[in-house]
Formats: sequence, C-alpha cells, structure tokens
Amino acid sequence: MRRSDKIFVAGHRGLVGSAIVRRLQALGHDNLVMRTRAELDLTDSARVRTYFEEERPQYVFLAAARVGGILANSTYPADFIRDNLLVQDSVIDAARWTGVEKMIFLGSSCIYPTHAEQPIREEALNTGPLEPTNEAYAIAKIAGITMCRSYNRQYGTRFVSIMPTNLYGPGDNFDLQGSHVLPALIRRFHDARLRSDAEAVVWGSGAPRREFLHVDDMADASVHLMRVWGELDRTGDVTGGPNAVNEIVNVGFGDDVSIRELAELVREVVGYRGALTFDITKPDGTPRKLLDSSRLRRTGWEPRIRLEDGIRSTYEWFLQHRDEARLGG
Ligand SMILES: NC(=O)c1ccc[n+]([C@@H]2O[C@H](COP(=O)([O-])OP(=O)(O)OC[C@H]3O[C@@H](n4cnc5c(N)ncnc54)[C@H](OP(=O)(O)O)[C@@H]3O)[C@@H](O)[C@H]2O)c1
Repeated sequence: MRRSDKIFVAGHRGLVGSAIVRRLQALGHDNLVMRTRAELDLTDSARVRTYFEEERPQYVFLAAARVGGILANSTYPADFIRDNLLVQDSVIDAARWTGVEKMIFLGSSCIYPTHAEQPIREEALNTGPLEPTNEAYAIAKIAGITMCRSYNRQYGTRFVSIMPTNLYGPGDNFDLQGSHVLPALIRRFHDARLRSDAEAVVWGSGAPRREFLHVDDMADASVHLMRVWGELDRTGDVTGGPNAVNEIVNVGFGDDVSIRELAELVREVVGYRGALTFDITKPDGTPRKLLDSSRLRRTGWEPRIRLEDGIRSTYEWFLQHRDEARLGG
C-alpha cells in the first residue's frame, strides 16, 4: 500500500474509522476518500456501486456498521441484522466489482460461541451457540466473514476479516442508551461525580471478564494487516491466503480484567468517590471473552497502550470534547 494509493475508509466518523484515518494520515497517506452517511448511505447498494465505479478506491477499510452495547442489541435486533447485512453486502460486492486490491472487514469478537474455549482462537468460529443478547448482530458479522471468504474463493479477491476485542478511545459513544461498557462507566461515574451521588450503579454482577484494546492500537493493527496481508513474510510464506482459518485474524490486547476491576479503574481515573453497586437484574453476557491473538503477533505486531493510560486519555478526550461527543439525551 503506497502513500498515494486511493483508500476508502467506510465509517470514517466512527470510533474505529476515525482512528484508522488518524493512523493513515500519520503515516503520510494523502489520498483518502470518505463519505458521511448523509452523502452516501451504505445500505443503498446501487449508490454504493456507482460511488465505487466513480472513485475506484484501491484499498478499503470497512468500518461502517450499526454498533451498540447489550441494551441496544437486545432492543433493536432487527435493525442490527438488517443494517449490517445491507452495508456489508453493498460494500463487499462493489469492492469486488471494481477490482479493489485489498479490503479489511471489521468483525467483532461476539461472533464466537458463548462458551468458546479461552483464549478464543479463530478456529472457534461456528463451533457452538452464540450469546443470545447479540445474536442478530453476530450472525450479520458471520455472514460478512463468510461473504469475504466466498468472494476470495470464487473471485480471487483479497478480503480479510479482523475480529477486534472490545475497543475504546477518543470518539467513543458515551450515550448510555447505546454505549459499550467502558465508555458507559466513564459517563456514569463522571455524571455521578458532578451530582455528588452517594453511589453509582454498574450493570450486572461485575464478575464477567473482558479484554479491552485502545482504538489507536486497533487502527495500527488494521493498517499493519492491510500491508502484510497476502504478501510474502520473512520466511517466504504468504501471510493469509486462500485458507479458511487464515482469512480471519483476532486483534486483542492479550489480557483481560473483570468488570468490577474495570469499574474500579475507571472510578479512580474519573475521581468519583462514591460507592459502586452492582445491579444483578441486568444481564452479564458471556462470562469471559479473551481473544488468542497469536496469529496477529506472529506477523510482528504488538499493542502499545496500557489499559489505565488508555482510560486516562479517553477521559481527557471526553472532557475536552463534550460538545461533539455522542452523549444522547
Ligand atoms: N466499538 C467496539 O468495541 C468494537 C469492537 C469490535 C469490533 N468493532 C467493529 O468495528 C466497526 C466499527 O465500529 P465503531 O465502534 O467504530 O462504531 P461507530 O463508532 O458507531 O461507527 C460506525 C460508523 O459507521 C457509520 N455507518 C453506520 N451505518 C451506516 C450507513 N448505513 N451508511 C454510512 N455510514 C454508516 C456511522 O455513521 P454515522 O456517524 O452517520 O452514524 C459511523 O460513522 C464495526 O464493524 C464493529 O463491529 C467495534
């Protein structure tokens, strides 16, 4: 991928897409093409195909999706499966149609079975039942992975699906109706501190364990994979290639924490002094979710941002960008 190559980042205003744009720009890529949802609704396959025919991007990062936490996923499962299937279908097919050289499709660790062996290897895909709270979303993502693989097989495309663990960072969604656990805790403890609440509520028992990766590390891994994927490595082997297992790559931090430990870390960073109570009437989700990212590590990539440092910089971003942050009502 040369600096002058034309790169389309789909979803460039989102958490992941904006981090990918920052990373590409920092590396000197100056031929990025982007469209807001108002300019190009990616669920509209005819318009997406026309856009690809006009722009002819050489590389695509598909980071546009309908994304949300447990509450949004369990309240709007139809929207999650429909929108994600439509976006993926439009972009993957247009990329093939116009001869895109490589594409990265963003999946998610929720595609793996609820009781997958930990840490979760790529081979666990399709080996057991999914977590019911986000089944519709996960099935859409699995369809996207299968679509990429099938296109590689039938059309010789180079579409790789990457499965990030839970991400967080600048640009995150702090709207309590749709956010993931880490930004939700930042928001809740921040509000509780301002109101001087005696206690703040954390959803679930606090026992589930989760892995968190800063989105800037994730963006760095995505750009790295775009470069090395399908190319010869130091031993002369092709990284990836038309092999069912090798077409997906986990992107994790390598270590997990319990939600209770996370909540305590966030409380400390935010400076909230009240008590934490755990609302066990709210769902816990999968008991543990830690990815085995050894395949990615073998390509020579390592995360750099420690969880505590990442939470601190995310909270600073939240404080400095209250006006533009996604806060909801
Ligand atoms: N966040 C995580 O923890 C996490 C973890 C693992 C994987 N991922 C994956 O990473 C990808 C991006 O997630 P994210 O967290 O960056 O989500 P996000 O912050 O909600 O960003 C999604 C972006 O997609 C755009 N989009 C959605 N539907 C669209 C449409 N129909 N047409 C055009 N644009 C559309 C949104 O545009 P608007 O701004 O107009 O809404 C938004 O900019 C997803 O595939 C997700 O599965 C995320």
